[in-house]
Amino acid sequence: MIIAIDGPAASGKGTIARRLAAHFGLPHLDTGLLYRAVGAKALADHVNFEDEAALAALAALAGALNLAALDPEALKSGAVGEAASRVAALPQVRAKLLTVQQDFARQPGGAVLDGRDIGTVIAPEAEVKIFVTASPQARAARRHAELAARGEGVTPEEVLADILKRDERDSGRASAPLIRAGDAEILDTTTLNIDESWQAALALVARRRAS
Ligand code: DC
Repeated sequence: MIIAIDGPAASGKGTIARRLAAHFGLPHLDTGLLYRAVGAKALADHVNFEDEAALAALAALAGALNLAALDPEALKSGAVGEAASRVAALPQVRAKLLTVQQDFARQPGGAVLDGRDIGTVIAPEAEVKIFVTASPQARAARRHAELAARGEGVTPEEVLADILKRDERDSGRASAPLIRAGDAEILDTTTLNIDESWQAALALVARRRAS
């Protein structure tokens, strides 16, 4: 069984995907980490997004990423998230990351993947698709708490502005934009805590598998 979880930043999709994977004994891939790894490289190298040669080098790096070596903790900062959103708009980077994600999704037994284009581009054949969303204000409050816990000194207003900018970039890009697959179930977590979100997701999976 392939479970595809998509949604905007801080919607709760990562936690839901991790818990579903543990519950069903399936491998899980947080595909945002791939874009974050490329974004971190772009940041470290001060990549000029107008420079075609530099973008080609970034795409080559994307093609050579080792899934097992990705360190979520090192890639969770707000700055890396912003850089990830920028590199994610580059078709040449997305093309390089396609195969590794599709191979992960299609491994025997199935998998859980979360991201922005899992149900639409990476695994349109997924048996279960959930589009997790929440209001920008609720997502900003969650992301602010996360960043504050990491010691990042950002204000709630800055985090909300960043979330809105990322929503616009992720949804507005030409290449595999963030969009709900027509056959995805919507899960709005605005008023739900983590446990309630997880229970709701489990109920959606059960409903989908029964139909
Ligand atoms: O989920 P996240 O915040 O870790 O993702 C970081 C960025 O990567 C996000 O702004 C958009 C991009 N992304 C994407 O375009 N496609 C995916 N499947 C996953 C993430």
